[in-house]
Amino acid sequence: MKKVLVVYESIHNGNTERIANLIGECLGGDVFRVGEIDKSIIQDYDVIGFGSGIYFGKHHRSLFELIDEMDRLEKKSFIFSTRTLTPQSLSHRKLKEKLMEKGAKILGEFSCKGESRMGIFKLFGGICKGRPNSDDMRRARDFAENLKKKL
Ligand SMILES: Cc1cc2nc3c(=O)[nH]c(=O)nc-3n(C[C@H](O)[C@H](O)[C@H](O)COP(=O)(O)O)c2cc1C
Repeated sequence: MKKVLVVYESIHNGNTERIANLIGECLGGDVFRVGEIDKSIIQDYDVIGFGSGIYFGKHHRSLFELIDEMDRLEKKSFIFSTRTLTPQSLSHRKLKEKLMEKGAKILGEFSCKGESRMGIFKLFGGICKGRPNSDDMRRARDFAENLKKKL
């Protein structure tokens, strides 16, 4: 049985936290907010998922800082996020590059919309209201089930 770790940050609405918990549960893994873990525990895991909301076009800086602290990260990994308008491929690019630079093998990526009341969107009562919704949660579960087959 592979040991799975899900590391996330979710500063806005808890949108990504919901996805992190669901994926972690499906994979039977440990789920921690990035600030809760010591980098030394990472070596105990076989598979590591990294996720957060997308803030100014990329994942939360704490994930980059954690990865930067490691010399190498030659592990199976996956990336997830919640976001509003930035497309998935653009949103994930920087984190993906960082992980690959450290030697990680990316098994898959998941992203869905996440409600935001940030900036101008507040004036309209928010954007991507109600997301992640039940369909997003179902897709996240499907993603995790597919990932299981690759572990
Ligand atoms: C400060 C800030 C910056 C954001 N920048 C972006 C962005 O560049 N692109 C995007 O698609 N969404 C952006 N969003 C929306 C969030 O990615 C989205 O609401 C996400 O679901 C928040 O996740 P969280 O609740 O887990 O923090 C931003 C939200 C905040 C609060």
